[in-house]
Amino acid sequence: MSEPKKRLLTGLQSSGDLHIGNYFGALRPFVEMYQEYDSFLMVADYHALTSLRDPAAMRLNTTNVVKDYLAAGVDPQKCVIFRQSDNQDHLELAWVFNCLVTVPFLRQAHAYKDKVAKGLDANAGLFTYPMLQAADITLYDVDVVPVGEDQRQHLEYTREAVGKLNRSYGDTLKAPAELILDSVGVIPGTDGEKMSKSKGNTIPLFGTTAALEKAVMSIVTDSEGERPENVYAIHRLLKSADELDPIYEAHAGRYGELKKLLISDLETVIGPMRESREQISDADVAAVLADGAERAKEISHVTLNRVRTAIGIN
Ligand code: ADP
Ligand code: TRP
Repeated sequence: MSEPKKRLLTGLQSSGDLHIGNYFGALRPFVEMYQEYDSFLMVADYHALTSLRDPAAMRLNTTNVVKDYLAAGVDPQKCVIFRQSDNQDHLELAWVFNCLVTVPFLRQAHAYKDKVAKGLDANAGLFTYPMLQAADITLYDVDVVPVGEDQRQHLEYTREAVGKLNRSYGDTLKAPAELILDSVGVIPGTDGEKMSKSKGNTIPLFGTTAALEKAVMSIVTDSEGERPENVYAIHRLLKSADELDPIYEAHAGRYGELKKLLISDLETVIGPMRESREQISDADVAAVLADGAERAKEISHVTLNRVRTAIGIN
């Protein structure tokens, strides 16, 4: 008999349109590995609520992000795709964790500290964000959580919360291992800084061809005669150095032409995905999420009952 598959879960906030940094940094690695595991993909809309106050955008982003994953090749038959807010178990377990960890511990969390450092008011949801994430993960007895480097601390917080619960009440929950996705590194945006939704420096993943062209043509290049590193770094996600180096040498200094080649290579990858995305309707997404919610709840109810028994509230 073969070993049962290990369990994998990852989540993403429905906070805006995906860009190619999200694709090469998170989506493509997920697509490449999810079938080796018993996999869960969650749209973290309650987490998005810590920063998004626009109901229309919330609905649209949730649908869009599911379409993006389906178009990128995730098969909903082979993975549980679900929306966090469809399963209230997450909120209940987060509350239990909130009652176990201390305020000084949560005060050390990066997302909260950064907000305070900028002089902004952090809401209580942002403050307890890591405990909701801990609930997302532990409700499904997850083994691995593939995320970018920026999420490492959230996994440490998850393990700490699990440790507190298990020490207080006996072994009840499983602590996950991380799986930091660092193979592609940080993908630069059009200004050379980390590409990020919040910085206005993105190359859209599923925008129109015209939007893709506009973004690539606006990539900032170095001084005349040098290799345009920001263009090259993105190009390297698509082709090997052996393929690219002669082309970059032959077009030395002709940045516009190199950008056009990059546009054409990006189109080769994105074009077919964009076409299949157009075939996915809102009703398809609703059906995937309805099915995912049922499958998710079946598993999380068992875990939550274990916790309720341990803490004495059932
Ligand atoms: P953003 O910074 O655009 O808001 P998120 O924080 O929502 O992106 O990240 C979603 C996923 O995409 C994470 O796993 C993150 O590591 C990955 N990611 C985001 N931007 C980049 C980038 N520039 N390079 C590589 N991976 C990225
Ligand atoms: N905090 C993650 C991010 O911003 C999203 C997230 C929410 C998540 N719950 C999760 C990631 C559970 C992994 C596992 O990218």
